[in-house]
Amino acid sequence: MAKKLWGGRFSKKTDPLVEEFTKSIQYDHKLAKYDLLGSIFHVRVLEKAGYLNKGEADKLEQGLGDILRILKNKSFQVGASDEDIHTYIQNLLQKKVGDLALKLHTARSRNDQVVFSTKLYCKNAIRDTKGCIGELISVLLGLISRNAGIIIPGFTHMQHAQPVYLKDYLFVYAQMLSRDTERLENIGQRLKITMGAGALAGTPIEAGKYAIEAGKLLKGEFKFIGERFDIEATVNSLDLVSDRDFVIEIVGALSLVATHLSRLAEDLIIWSTKEFDFVEVDEAFCTGSSLMPQKKNSDVLELIRGYSGRLYGNLVSVLTMMKGLPLTYNRDMQLDKEPLFNSFEIVSSELKVLTGLIATLKFNAAKIEEQLKDESLYATDLVYYLVDKKIPFKNAHTIIGKLVKYSIDNDISIKDMPESLFRKFSDKLIKKEIVKLLDPLVSVKSKKSIKR
Ligand code: ARG
Repeated sequence: MAKKLWGGRFSKKTDPLVEEFTKSIQYDHKLAKYDLLGSIFHVRVLEKAGYLNKGEADKLEQGLGDILRILKNKSFQVGASDEDIHTYIQNLLQKKVGDLALKLHTARSRNDQVVFSTKLYCKNAIRDTKGCIGELISVLLGLISRNAGIIIPGFTHMQHAQPVYLKDYLFVYAQMLSRDTERLENIGQRLKITMGAGALAGTPIEAGKYAIEAGKLLKGEFKFIGERFDIEATVNSLDLVSDRDFVIEIVGALSLVATHLSRLAEDLIIWSTKEFDFVEVDEAFCTGSSLMPQKKNSDVLELIRGYSGRLYGNLVSVLTMMKGLPLTYNRDMQLDKEPLFNSFEIVSSELKVLTGLIATLKFNAAKIEEQLKDESLYATDLVYYLVDKKIPFKNAHTIIGKLVKYSIDNDISIKDMPESLFRKFSDKLIKKEIVKLLDPLVSVKSKKSIKR
């Protein structure tokens, strides 16, 4: 193993199995640029506090900047033998600037470093995810406007219920996704970037020296942080190193995004079956079968449905990991990163592929229209018709229930029933008025409670 950030107290070599078991660099290397940025701020704090002179601070900042450039040019190699990304950067810095690097860890601990970099990672990833959600919403709105006139059977319990506009149905998903955006935005805004916890008890540096208008300090390649943010001293160092609420909240919010995408995927899977045939998923977004030559499968949608399980697993994993931890930092908390990164990565790939799939969907208006011939879809409208004729709702409901049952039992459609037959159910039922109500457009237009 490469040089550790600890070891003075130990006389024995660490067992290689322990090194392998405890290291996190295989995933926390994703925090590299955020950790570097944190180190640059820390250098300036150390300078303000008198632990570094200007020349030393500049040299360290230069070294950290060089490391970021190496990382950006993709020649960044994670040393598999380093314990974690914080150790890796420290060791690399020492190679670049010599023993001056040994001063960098003054008044700080990986316990606060890891929170700092994870929070910045989250701020950035939230911004990117919001961007992907925005793109999906805009293709959904395009799909809605291209199919604005289509009416579909609405379902409850997966049974025909009442006709509804396809645009309203699809807009549900746009609304779910905008609530997701707000939720993520809200969490992002509450993510306070604080420093000065040390390992847990605070540091000898005065709180005021930690106040940094980070936005102003960001130069060149360090401008990768999208949002302006300020750094403050912590008001409770014990909380700073113990808190993983933000990870849980974010993985929770991402789980909800995954739920919404899964429901949309499920609707499209059902609608694209031969039995429904409401919609055609473009070939570019389908896959075939190795055995059955005719198959055009919705594997993309099925994976979106399936991945929601991963997201929930990630949420349960971080919740369970935290629930029994005494204050303050415990190594268990290292295990928050894989579920966090994985949740962001899955959701963003789902959003991207779904954006392409939605943009190319084609609705089959003729097939949908066939389904609208089912007269049971208009039964509720017939009840309202009788209510308008002063029949109490409960009685009207029973009358129309009997009419529908008669139609099913005798295999005769309502519109083909003779005028005289209607009298058997109610003398208020006038055939030519009723037939006009068996119409999808009349049905949707009669719903006045929806603000349009
Ligand atoms: N890799 C660790 C993590 O992700 C960093 C903190 C290690 N701190 C310690 N005291 N061992 O949580």
